[in-house]
Amino acid sequence: MAILKIARMGHPVLLQRAEPVSDPTAPEIRRLVADMMETMEDAPGAGLAAPQVHVPLRLFVFRVRSERTSGDTEDFTIGNTAVINPVLELLGDDIRPRWEGCLSIPGLRAAVPRHWRIRYSGVDTEGRPVGGEVTGFHAGVVQHEYDHLDGILYPMRMQDFSQFGFIEELTRAGTI
Ligand code: NI
Repeated sequence: MAILKIARMGHPVLLQRAEPVSDPTAPEIRRLVADMMETMEDAPGAGLAAPQVHVPLRLFVFRVRSERTSGDTEDFTIGNTAVINPVLELLGDDIRPRWEGCLSIPGLRAAVPRHWRIRYSGVDTEGRPVGGEVTGFHAGVVQHEYDHLDGILYPMRMQDFSQFGFIEELTRAGTI
């Protein structure tokens, strides 16, 4: 396994639409996913999409740690998960601001409007189906990572730029 170099905002790979993975069970995809999980843990981060490690393919990894869950029954702790060739459906009209960071935009956080409830699907490196109907942090991180596959970074979703700052200052101020 290896820790991969993360592309930072400004790199063109982050702005392109990623291509579908032709064989999710291929050994090179399994290796990429393992390396992405190691890179996400090392950072540390809650999610990482393939374009962020300079691979323009439609897959991402994520995890939901217990301190991040909202308490909703559809928002539970999840270990490292790979989602290959995801399909995302935004459900309802409950849109809430969600504080987000991104490993490609180090040191910063912003409140980004996201759907509270989504449905998504995809497969893992064994070709098994993953996903479901989820809410809260789980729903937010999937929307963030899915956006990466379409070349969208969270500042492109922002509506209130007063809710944007350095993690260090936002923490000191008690905002996050
Ligand atoms: Ni990101």
